[in-house]
Amino acid sequence: MRTLLILSHPSLSTSVANKTIVEELKKSSQDVTIRHLEELYQGYTIDVTAEQAALLAADTIVFQFPFYWYSSPAALKNWIDQVFGYNFAYGPEGDKIKGKNLIISTTLGGPPEAYLPLGYNHFRVGELLRPFEQTAYLTGLNYIEPIFTHRCVFSPEANNKAEVEDRARNHATRVLEQLAKLA
Ligand SMILES: Cc1cc2nc3c(=O)[nH]c(=O)nc-3n(C[C@H](O)[C@H](O)[C@H](O)COP(=O)(O)O)c2cc1C
Repeated sequence: MRTLLILSHPSLSTSVANKTIVEELKKSSQDVTIRHLEELYQGYTIDVTAEQAALLAADTIVFQFPFYWYSSPAALKNWIDQVFGYNFAYGPEGDKIKGKNLIISTTLGGPPEAYLPLGYNHFRVGELLRPFEQTAYLTGLNYIEPIFTHRCVFSPEANNKAEVEDRARNHATRVLEQLAKLA
């Protein structure tokens, strides 16, 4: 099974969680191709043909990103806007990614209790990810249970770096287990 990991992180050099996850995935024996959007593209203009070709070659697509303002970083949204085009991902002939799997894999700063109806952020993570879920339904992607990890923001006051790295390694294990299950 071929996996395409679309990584969106505007500052991977300062990342702890996503950097660790990606390093763990690179070490695995699974066939995972990583495309880091902010490294490939500096602005809004992206190579749609190359991105669609990468999608066509994959069985499973992973969107890997830090949760930003209850969604993904802007580069991933821009990528979806352009790559999931008419007659490619939707429309009368838009069946090109139908039947592939989509896994949302994201790291969050907030703790689990913040993502409850009476919590600070009011909504469960799964509810906040609904736009991705509906995008999957519209395009015929199989929406796999999202994989997410809380308490991933690293700052000396909030979290110990080694703890965040541990959580990130555990997260990567869950991603790899899910990929193995799908294969
Ligand atoms: C612009 C921005 C927006 C953020 N929005 C959220 C948010 O909505 N919810 C949340 O739990 N954490 C939020 N965070 C925290 C990040 O999710 C967290 O720092 C990240 O997952 C850590 O991963 P990294 O080490 O790979 O950067 C935000 C961080 C930034 C910089």
